[in-house]
Amino acid sequence: METRTPYPALAEALQALQAKDNLRVLMTIEKREGPFVWSNGRRFLNLSSNDYLGLAADPALQEAFHARHRGQNPAFAPGLSASSSRLLSGSHAAHARLETLLAACYQREAALVFTSGYHANLGLITALVGPRDAVFADRLAHASLLDGILLSGAKLHRYRHLDCDHLEMLLVKHRPGASKALIVTESIFSMDGDAADLPRLAALKKKYGCWLYLDEAHAVGVVGEKGLGLAEKTRTLGEIDFLIGTFGKALAGLGAFLIADRVVVDYVLNHARPFIFTTALPPLLADWQAFLWERLHTWGPRRERLLSLSARLRQSLHALGLPATGQAHIIPVVLGENAPTLHVAQEMQTAGYWLMAIRPPTVMQGTARLRLSLTADMRWEDLSGLPQRVSAALASCRPSALKGAGA
Ligand SMILES: Cc1ncc(COP(=O)(O)O)c(C=O)c1O
Repeated sequence: METRTPYPALAEALQALQAKDNLRVLMTIEKREGPFVWSNGRRFLNLSSNDYLGLAADPALQEAFHARHRGQNPAFAPGLSASSSRLLSGSHAAHARLETLLAACYQREAALVFTSGYHANLGLITALVGPRDAVFADRLAHASLLDGILLSGAKLHRYRHLDCDHLEMLLVKHRPGASKALIVTESIFSMDGDAADLPRLAALKKKYGCWLYLDEAHAVGVVGEKGLGLAEKTRTLGEIDFLIGTFGKALAGLGAFLIADRVVVDYVLNHARPFIFTTALPPLLADWQAFLWERLHTWGPRRERLLSLSARLRQSLHALGLPATGQAHIIPVVLGENAPTLHVAQEMQTAGYWLMAIRPPTVMQGTARLRLSLTADMRWEDLSGLPQRVSAALASCRPSALKGAGA
């Protein structure tokens, strides 16, 4: 029977997505158990989480955090809501403590905490550049970066992914016409698991008089001896004008931070609308992030384990001829079109893996993929059967679905 809706245009748009195998639906998780999640009474190995260090479901860590607050005078305990913007009454001692800690770890003048990475990128870029300026961004930079650039009105020049020669060509051509210029990149790329060449980007920013904006969302906690990210590892921290880290991934919480000079932070808190016009991060969460950050340098063994698990899985995917790429804890298996990717993801779910098909617009058209995201609390026994399963699922695709799948 035909269903009537007062929103036919929206219903049609959904049908169009469905026809292109590109409709998203929410899948509910009932509980977490280490690297596993439970849904509809079934247990799945979670390969879609950014909890890279395996901290988010670590009961001992949570207990230690709660024990710290037990018996504390409620008047001084960090609350569950900031109840206003940081610029009204929402700036708590917990935020200030976290910012002091972050700035000290990065040996930089200042830090500023945001409610999320999306807020941070949108707010910073729109505050830093405008219509007379130019932004040179990696073609695969995250949607939050792109949205910030588009909203800023700055002229956008996208260079081919990781291609610094192409970036330099664009800088030669377009830098002279712009007032300010910003080079924007992720460090470890979220959907590709590969890494930006930070020393080369730092050299280009100097040569052409630009600012360098680095989003370390997928590297903070995971990369570098202390877990500060790719800039720490490549010894380029001093070259990054604006470094963004997020707490929602390896740092098992929510929120984001900017590391920069004091003048930048003072400017940003006066100009970044997603900082000014939103409720601040709950103080209790700021306290949790500080609690974890104080321990970050001790998790070297977790970082090593994550890297060795990732290398082993990538190797065994290759051994079966599967197109696994990336070089870090994120392993994309690019299958091409939506239909085979969706089919393989569904087969994997049936086999007990929590794995989603990553499709446009999250990735470029024709590059739909499985994104295997590993966490340090997984065991090799949990992963060892996975390559064979992917291979079998791919083999079971209808030939028509495989067209252009690159398999
Ligand atoms: C590279 C990158 N930057 C920023 C964000 C946004 O961070 P948040 O989830 O804290 O809003 C994401 C989220 O996936 C990301 O992958």
